[in-house]
Amino acid sequence: MIEYDFENIYPPSEDTYLIIDYFKRKLSKTHFDGINLSKIKNVLDLGTGTGIIAIFLQLAILQKINFIANIVASDILGEAIICAKKNEALNKIQKKIRFIRSDIFNSFPENLRNAFNIMIFNPPYLPSSHLINNDNRKNIDLSWDGGFTGFEVLLNFLKKAKDYLNLENQYYIYFVSSSRTNLTILYKQIENLGFKNEIVDRKHVFFEDLVLNRIG
Ligand SMILES: C[S@@+](CC[C@H](N)C(=O)[O-])C[C@H]1O[C@@H](n2cnc3c(N)ncnc32)[C@H](O)[C@@H]1O
Repeated sequence: MIEYDFENIYPPSEDTYLIIDYFKRKLSKTHFDGINLSKIKNVLDLGTGTGIIAIFLQLAILQKINFIANIVASDILGEAIICAKKNEALNKIQKKIRFIRSDIFNSFPENLRNAFNIMIFNPPYLPSSHLINNDNRKNIDLSWDGGFTGFEVLLNFLKKAKDYLNLENQYYIYFVSSSRTNLTILYKQIENLGFKNEIVDRKHVFFEDLVLNRIG
């Protein structure tokens, strides 16, 4: 159960469910997308919005004996953190998720360096609109506005991600991208950062293809 009665919070949408439905298919009694559950120590849901992805994973942890990971959920918007905490309580999860208000990793504590086996970011992935300027920009625009190319926020995240990944164990980074951006350039830039990307699912929605990607 998720409430999103906040003006600036992204409601769970097709991209959100592209991620959650994939996770539902890939979560077994013992494994998450091929990784043994007991090997997953820390999971990051970056840009958590309503908290829906973090809450889905936390509920899975409560149901599975050998899934003991800590979930960290973060967002640049304080309002999102309030909304996600409210949804955590609505789902009767007793303060299990750790919430951090942060612009990407800027406000993360030192002890989360090298910590994460799984990172999820459903980022703002559309190119900026010429209709939006500093005078009329709203907080909700942070949900979709990925800068000039549409993937500036994503690349800023990926540039820093290695500092927070647990590179000694198997890791995956999941993110959504859109065919409304130049995916050839995006994938080339991801390769230049030393990552190997794979498309694991996609969905056609109105005027675009939403693509679920996995790095790892
Ligand atoms: C497309 S919404 C996804 C929300 C939620 N994860 C979902 O899938 O429904 C993108 C989210 O990223 C957050 N965001 C945008 N820029 C960010 C940044 N620089 N650092 C952290 N979060 C950011 C937005 O506030 C928004 O909640």
